[in-house]
Amino acid sequence: MIILGIETSCDETAVSVCRNGEILSNTVSSQLIHNSYGGVVPEIASREHEKLLNIVVDKSLGEAGINLADVDAVAVTQGPGLAGTLLTGISFAKGLAMGLNIPLIPVNHLEAHIFANFLVDPTLEYPFVCLLVSGGHTQLWHIKNMDSYTLLGETRDDAAGEAFDKGARILGLGYPGGPAIETEAIGGNPDAVHFPRGLMGNDSLEFSYSGLKTSLLYFMDDFKENVSISKNDVAASYQQAIVDSLVEKMNRAVYQTKSKTCVIAGGVAANKTLRICSREKLANIRILFPDLSFCTDNGAMVSFLGEVKLNAGYTTNIEFGAQPNLKMATS
Ligand code: KG4
Ligand code: ZN
Repeated sequence: MIILGIETSCDETAVSVCRNGEILSNTVSSQLIHNSYGGVVPEIASREHEKLLNIVVDKSLGEAGINLADVDAVAVTQGPGLAGTLLTGISFAKGLAMGLNIPLIPVNHLEAHIFANFLVDPTLEYPFVCLLVSGGHTQLWHIKNMDSYTLLGETRDDAAGEAFDKGARILGLGYPGGPAIETEAIGGNPDAVHFPRGLMGNDSLEFSYSGLKTSLLYFMDDFKENVSISKNDVAASYQQAIVDSLVEKMNRAVYQTKSKTCVIAGGVAANKTLRICSREKLANIRILFPDLSFCTDNGAMVSFLGEVKLNAGYTTNIEFGAQPNLKMATS
């Protein structure tokens, strides 16, 4: 079976071809136009998707060596995400599926991030814990089976990716903030500044990053680079505060659910310090991280999950719409 996956939940125009669980192409056009605004401008993002979708689909089919006529189904991100960008992708996907007279499968973006871990290791077995860390979400899930997910905890305010993005803005670094802070932190001392780690008490599996961001803001008010503290040190310390709380809560979730496997999903999973610290702290647990190209928003996770859903017998009516606040069903 050949599935064409389309992802337009934010500012990546991403398309992929999946054949029988194998990713044949994973094509992404990142909209660099937003960098100069320090964040994604929704209206511009929708218009860019509209311009780019045809081109990226053609490129992805070419890279996969597949003709449009060979595609058996189209999968598209239904939500969560920006209303306008989701609508652009869904409208395009509907046109394609109707024109080809093939099924169209709506995919939950969060679930797709989690399922990207089956691309790392197809033998991944339920149950497992998932730390889902993206620009809009920071959640801990107990994934017991396909469609049987329990939310163990989530952020009370900012998401971890958002903390990176806002921190980068305060530090005068670029957007997206995660890679910018990661680069700035190279060679910096992560213990140079002690930033707060939110909600560390008791057995809490919840996260909080708004205090951390405020703390950085106040720190930078008086900060001048000097011989004892450089900007690299500040970036490294800020990054470490985010990573420490993620790793601690992940460890608690694994312990509380008595899990043997933990997977990490979403854009922040690309962070190397998070990867290293998780492996150190959860040394006896099997930890999976998607390849970098499957961490940040991509079409592969959509085409792959679309195929999983189709194989599991999911059908849908083509009249579905974009759901900017789509949640994962919890049980
Ligand atoms: O999953 P994703 O691509 O989009 C959403 O669904 O939100 O995640 C984007 C987030 C951004 O906040 C970005 O700063 C963060 O992931 N990110 C990173 C890294 N690469 C992307 N955060 C930390 N370190 C990275 N290397
Ligand atoms: Zn995402």
